[in-house]
This record gives sequence, structure tokens and C-alpha cells, in this order.
Amino acid sequence: MTDKVTPDDGAIESRGIRVARGDKMILRGVSIRADAGEVVGVLGPSGAGKSTLFRALVGEIPVEDGTVRLFGEDMTRTALWERARAGVAYVPQTPSVLWDLSVEDNLRVYHRIVHGGAWPKRARAGEDDAIARLAERVALSDRMDVRAGELSGGERRRLELARALTRPPKVLVCDEPFAGVDPQQASRLGDMLRGLADDEGVCVLLSDHHVAEALRVCTRAVLLLDGQVAMEGTPDAFQEHPLVVGRYLGNWGRSLPPPSI
Ligand SMILES: Nc1ncnc2c1ncn2[C@@H]1O[C@H](COP(=O)(O)OP(=O)(O)OP(=O)(O)O)[C@@H](O)[C@H]1O
Ligand SMILES: [Mg+2]
Repeated sequence: MTDKVTPDDGAIESRGIRVARGDKMILRGVSIRADAGEVVGVLGPSGAGKSTLFRALVGEIPVEDGTVRLFGEDMTRTALWERARAGVAYVPQTPSVLWDLSVEDNLRVYHRIVHGGAWPKRARAGEDDAIARLAERVALSDRMDVRAGELSGGERRRLELARALTRPPKVLVCDEPFAGVDPQQASRLGDMLRGLADDEGVCVLLSDHHVAEALRVCTRAVLLLDGQVAMEGTPDAFQEHPLVVGRYLGNWGRSLPPPSI
């Protein structure tokens, strides 16, 4: 795959995708692009189609029209698992932990799915260390024995994020990573996402209604309205844009602190 990449290719890209759910056209020709090392926020009101766009990008749902490209390669018709193998990790909006397994076993299951190893045989060399590092990254080291179903909302979100990092992603698609997370933890998570982009060159796509935090860590923000891209720009430009103020943030947007990045 990598031999085909040119500087003109985004890490992940959609061109004119249209997606129908039931008899309704939800995405009406969406073209977006995110590059390696970027954090791109896809923001907009509830029902605008943000989750639908993410689902289509990762391959959970098909597109009627248009293309999805990964590092220049057309992946429109490839299955979710093939896109995962190509480096796409996905944190869905809805909770997706294995509720009755401990934090540690949640991480272990995904580690074995990615790296192999039978269950419940002894850990492969390096597995325990890898799991411990993932837990530490999201500050869950002291919660390893807790059943995932007993975690707080924010802890669960962090577990889901750790799971998405099991195979170091090239593209990380995070649907509302800050949902249910308190402001301090959200800020830490935001730093972590930004760090993945800055330090490891990961392309991060995120959506969230915690707009201040999202804009703080984004390099670019895209406004999605009624299944179409209405504007895109820097966090500053986004926050001030009349469409963003009028259709999404209201006057609250004007009171946001200026994004620090
Ligand atoms: N499976 C489905 N069947 C029919 N309609 C659907 C389905 N999934 C989503 N929709 C509709 O598609 C539209 C966009 O939904 P989507 O979940 O993508 O919005 P969103 O921008 O992610 O909203 P939120 O900010 O609330 O998460 C909504 O009108 C929703 O009702
Ligand atoms: Mg959504």
C-alpha cells in the first residue's frame, strides 16, 4: 500500500460520498480529507450525520456513491476488517466494552485478536507488558481487576480508547471521545489524542459536542450540516464563522476561550 502514497494523498479521504439509512439520504455528497499528523474535528448539530460519516469511513456501512480512500488507495468496497488491517482504528459513539470482563481481560482479548494467542492460555511474551502500557496510557493501571460494566462513563471511554490503540493506528476515528468524561480527564484525553498526531504522526478524526476541548486539540475543524460539509477552517475561523454560530454553537461559541493551538 505505502508504495502508492504520494504527497497529494490524504491519510483518509472521502470524495462525494452519499449514504442512505432506510429511505433517507443522510450524507449528501461529503468530501473530507485528513492527513497524517493532523487532528480534524468533524463537528455539527445532532443528526447532522457525523457518526454516519465515521461509520462509512471505517467500513461499518456502505456508501451509495462516492469513494473512500486510505493513503491514496480506494477502499470504498473493502470490509471494515480490511480497513482495520490497513491501520484504521475506530472508537464508536455507543459503548462497546465487553461488560463482564475485567479491564485487563478487555485489553487482553483485543491484544490476542490483533496479535494472536489462544484463550485462556498463558500470555505470549510481551503481552502483559503491552497491556500494562496501554492501561497506563489511559490512566487505568489501578483499575485492571474491575469489571468493565462497573467502570464510570469516563473510565469506560478510556478503556475503549486504549483498545483502539492495541494495533498502533495510522488513522484513529473517535466518535465523541469526551462524552461522559469530566473536564480534567477530557483535557488529558485531548492531550493524548494530540500527542498521537504530533509525536506518532497518527491522523486523528474526532467528533464531539465538548466543542471547547475538541477545538483545543484540533488542527482543523469541519462543520457538518444536514449531511453536507458547510465550512472548514482553523479552530479560530470555525468558532467565529456565522454558520457555526447560527446553526451550532449559538452565542455560547463567542464566549469560548480562543483555541490554544
Ligand atoms: N440506522 C439508521 N436508520 C435510519 N436513520 C438513521 C440511522 N442511523 C442514523 N440515522 C439518521 O441519520 C441522521 C444522522 O445521524 P447521525 O447519528 O449520523 O448524527 P450525528 O451527527 O452523529 O448526531 P449526534 O451528534 O447526536 O451523535 C439522523 O437523522 C438519524 O436519525
Ligand atoms: Mg453521532
